[in-house]
Amino acid sequence: MSDSLRSQMPGLKNKFYFNYGGQGPLPSQSLNEITKSWQKIQELGPFTSNVWPYINKEIIKTKQKLAEQFGVKPKYISLSENISTGMILPLWGINIDRGDELLISDCEHPGVVAASREFCRRNNLKFRIFPIQKIKFLDKKVIINELEKYINKDTKILIISHILWNFGYEMPLKEISIELNRLQKKPFLLVDGAQSFGHIEINEKVKFSDVYAVTSHKWACGPEGLGAFYVSERFIKNSNPTIVGWKSLKREQGIYEPHENLFHNDARKFEIATSCIPLLTGLRQSISLIEKDCSGFKKHNLITSMSNKLWNHLKEIDKVNLIMNNPIQNGIVSFDIKDIDDKNNFVYKLGLKNIWIRVIEDPQWFRVCIHQMTTEDEIELLVDEIKSIIL
Ligand SMILES: Cc1ncc(COP(=O)(O)O)c(C=O)c1O
Repeated sequence: MSDSLRSQMPGLKNKFYFNYGGQGPLPSQSLNEITKSWQKIQELGPFTSNVWPYINKEIIKTKQKLAEQFGVKPKYISLSENISTGMILPLWGINIDRGDELLISDCEHPGVVAASREFCRRNNLKFRIFPIQKIKFLDKKVIINELEKYINKDTKILIISHILWNFGYEMPLKEISIELNRLQKKPFLLVDGAQSFGHIEINEKVKFSDVYAVTSHKWACGPEGLGAFYVSERFIKNSNPTIVGWKSLKREQGIYEPHENLFHNDARKFEIATSCIPLLTGLRQSISLIEKDCSGFKKHNLITSMSNKLWNHLKEIDKVNLIMNNPIQNGIVSFDIKDIDDKNNFVYKLGLKNIWIRVIEDPQWFRVCIHQMTTEDEIELLVDEIKSIIL
């Protein structure tokens, strides 16, 4: 980590921050780019033929940047607003047959779980849960063995996070997709990338999914209100857009006439209507800044060495129960503390010292996120303050 990235983040100046998986700090340069883009749109337009080439270029540049991150072609990327829309819009577009089942892990975000449940209720699908939380000593083989117990000839959809938001385990997407492809229905694999994008390299992994949703505002440190999702070719062919708007359409002329297929034959069929263009340059800027600071193996090693430093310190504290038994492979460290009933009050007490972590609600675990901007001093301070509250 270079000091220059940290110094560009006003959000990190006056606090000790460990909530990157909730929302990342926005660099000043990204904010400046957003403001400049907003000004440019006013100078050129806002609704004139002069502004459209600029807007189109912004969309193309952003999809290209995301395509590089995802390791897929830009035509498979749809722009959205956040993770939830990136997961739920495609989910609700899947064509269902009688008897189909939806399988979802027990480590998913409440919004995605609720949307999946409601989708099943309205479409008469069986809603099934794939339990991961209680598996001790997780590894690829164990995950696949467990998965085999829950998939069957009726499984149509599997919903899973790439990195589990509640305790940070990284799911083996390749092995999971191989397993799914053996089944009669070749179930769609919908992946929640909330905790992976901007945190770990995903470009060799996205292609194993049918839908892979990300957001700008977490580990990628971009603005809130912007997300994106990948959809596979077979998903595009075998689904319908959920909310239809002018952006979903191949063309706007003759729309009152009957049509075989009104919609784009690529990921744009899931896009809806007017969106906030200035945010796009903000995300591109944040991605570039973060990559320039540190990427690839170097970033992975930096983040995991700091996570394990915290993990080892916490292991020494009697009352602390670490959720991952093995050393950590990324920047998420989750734990529980014996005899603390009001966990939100514990977080509040740390907050009084300007240290920010969070409680995951179900099950109630503390979650600390470590990014490339995190310093060793911050980790030492966090450990000292945890000890001073509980000992
Ligand atoms: C795994 C996961 N999925 C979904 C969400 C919801 O994100 P958004 O508000 O971008 O829809 C979050 C937010 O914390 C998350 O961690």
